[in-house]
Amino acid sequence: MSKIFMVGVTGGVGSRLAPKLIEAGHAVSGLYRQPEQEAGLRQAGITPVFGDLMELSTDDLTAATQGHDIIVFSAGAAGSGLERTTAIDYETPVKLIAAARANGISRLYLVSAFMDAGRDRPRRDGFEHYMNMKRQADNAVVASGLDWVIVRPGVLVSEAGEGRVHLDRAIPYGQVARGNVAGVLAKLIETPTLKQEILELTDGDTPIDQAVAALHR
Ligand SMILES: NC(=O)c1ccc[n+]([C@@H]2O[C@H](COP(=O)([O-])OP(=O)(O)OC[C@H]3O[C@@H](n4cnc5c(N)ncnc54)[C@H](OP(=O)(O)O)[C@@H]3O)[C@@H](O)[C@H]2O)c1
Repeated sequence: MSKIFMVGVTGGVGSRLAPKLIEAGHAVSGLYRQPEQEAGLRQAGITPVFGDLMELSTDDLTAATQGHDIIVFSAGAAGSGLERTTAIDYETPVKLIAAARANGISRLYLVSAFMDAGRDRPRRDGFEHYMNMKRQADNAVVASGLDWVIVRPGVLVSEAGEGRVHLDRAIPYGQVARGNVAGVLAKLIETPTLKQEILELTDGDTPIDQAVAALHR
């Protein structure tokens, strides 16, 4: 049993991941920013930790993550502006790396973005900034010295998914159900031998367990 701290627990991916982790026997804490979310988190068996990423400092996140074994980041500014994108998609992972180091937490799972995203569309400043922040966050994680895994999903769709994916170090771009992203993260967390990995993910034909096992080669 691990103690897992989730940033993004109320989101599309996070809210599907937390129950899987609890079912697997882990203790899950999760950050929330809207008071009305607290009761639902408690009902789901998640320890709620109140805070807004636009305000939380490295020290705050160090205090919040103390006593945990694993940090999962699946938060995102979701197109709410350049400043928020910088703070949430880039600066928060950097703060979490510092918090992990301060607390001796070695394992960090980061939901990033598929670097091919939007390459077939005209450039939009906000989207380019988002991708740049995701890329910079990945770079910080890779340089962190932690036991990290970065998952880069294709375009997310709000479905449970059928538990079949395409997961590897470099794959063609496509879409992926948020439930499949959660399923892959849950399996990766059960597989600590997989670390220092950047993985691309879309829906596909391979059952999640097999897709994760196949990464050992
Ligand atoms: N959309 C795509 O097609 C796509 C593609 C590739 C990768 N991604 C990435 O995939 C990840 C997961 O996506 P998703 O669909 O699960 O995202 P989502 O549903 O938008 O959830 C975002 C999460 O971040 C939290 N959050 C946002 N601002 C916050 C703040 N200021 N303080 C505290 N928490 C805050 C949200 O909390 P609230 O519930 O309070 O809003 C929510 O828990 C994100 O990192 C996203 O960038 C997305």
